[in-house]
Amino acid sequence: MATLKTQVLGICFENPFLLASAPPTAKIESIDKAFSLGWGGAVFKTITPDNLEMIEASQRYATWKVGSKVCGFENIELLSHLTVQQWLDGIKFLRQKHPTKVQIASIMAPVVKEEWQKLVKTFNHSEIDAFELNFSCPHGMPEKGIGMAIGTHPEISAMITNWVKEVAKKPVFVKLSPNVSNIVEIAKAVEEAGADGLSAINTVQSIMGVDLDTFEPLPNVNGKTTFGGYSGMAVKPIGLRCVAQIRQHSDLPILGIGGISTWQDAAEYMAVGADVVQVCTEVMVNGYGVIGAMKKGFLDYLERKGFNGPEDLKNKAMAHLSAHKALDKQKQVYPHINDEACVKCCKCVTICEESEHSALSLVDGHIVADKNRCAGCSLCSQICPKLAINMK
Ligand SMILES: Cc1cc2nc3c(=O)[nH]c(=O)nc-3n(C[C@H](O)[C@H](O)[C@H](O)COP(=O)(O)O)c2cc1C
Repeated sequence: MATLKTQVLGICFENPFLLASAPPTAKIESIDKAFSLGWGGAVFKTITPDNLEMIEASQRYATWKVGSKVCGFENIELLSHLTVQQWLDGIKFLRQKHPTKVQIASIMAPVVKEEWQKLVKTFNHSEIDAFELNFSCPHGMPEKGIGMAIGTHPEISAMITNWVKEVAKKPVFVKLSPNVSNIVEIAKAVEEAGADGLSAINTVQSIMGVDLDTFEPLPNVNGKTTFGGYSGMAVKPIGLRCVAQIRQHSDLPILGIGGISTWQDAAEYMAVGADVVQVCTEVMVNGYGVIGAMKKGFLDYLERKGFNGPEDLKNKAMAHLSAHKALDKQKQVYPHINDEACVKCCKCVTICEESEHSALSLVDGHIVADKNRCAGCSLCSQICPKLAINMK
């Protein structure tokens, strides 16, 4: 029998699914509800010193949709609006009501040693399980010299990690930004400064679009916008890449985040090195109840694969990552077309024609591949709406 239980840095997770620091963890009542529905833990919406000004813009979201499906959000929302005392009271309440759930305090402060250490010392005395340092919020905060302004500089990231580690009595995770040219550099800097674990990724800096009548970019705040943070299923490939790159260079525990909307997404994150995962946008769009299907699907998968628990899956994909020069260039695959499934839409013909190789054509009502022209690139099978093309 497989189990969903796992341990990271001595913290027991009843399942590897946590809520990420975001609107779903902005209120104590919401976290209470999420815990009752089965989430393994929560990273609180980022807590700051009470005197840090937090004035929100309206509106603060724009959405990338395909049909009615939300593929991604851009947000320009700031951090928690609860006071430090409200969080302390909330943590106490949650610990009493949900003793086995993991509670992680996400924190951020100005780049002043006393400010960071004061916040950490305050929460040392609460019953949280760990800290997560938010060095990665891409909007609003960088203008104040914090958030991503910290996480894009290895030296500042290391310095603050050091300050926190001097006083922290709980494990310290550092939440990294994907908006850097080399995430490994930042990960290694905070690891050397004493971070116990890493969280990746925060949102991807973005502009969702531009209104072509008014030329006002989105999200539109009375005619203006600012660069925001992109999240949701569209960012999963970026998150997976970041986690895998970090795992290639570090053995620290990783909390994987970014575009997780199914148990399969979570499993993929673990296969490239995540210990447990965090979810935000999927919960905002479809509600806390998504945890039921995530837990069931993941447990069934672990059992099907003969894994005892999430840790058996961890890093399983890592041996399959290599440099491009080490990829096998001798073998070529070719498209095999299932004529019954094919609806002759000719999307494969067009993409092959316009993308260099011109290897496919419609002959007497059938798609035919010319092996002499085919480069085995697989674009035809990627584009086929009926999954009628297999590369073999
Ligand atoms: C509206 C919104 C607010 C967020 N606020 C925070 C925050 O306060 N602190 C933080 O570390 N991350 C914050 N995030 C980032 C999420 O924790 C997460 O890293 C990101 O959304 C990617 O995960 P997802 O694709 O599952 O949404 C926020 C994300 C969204 C969409």
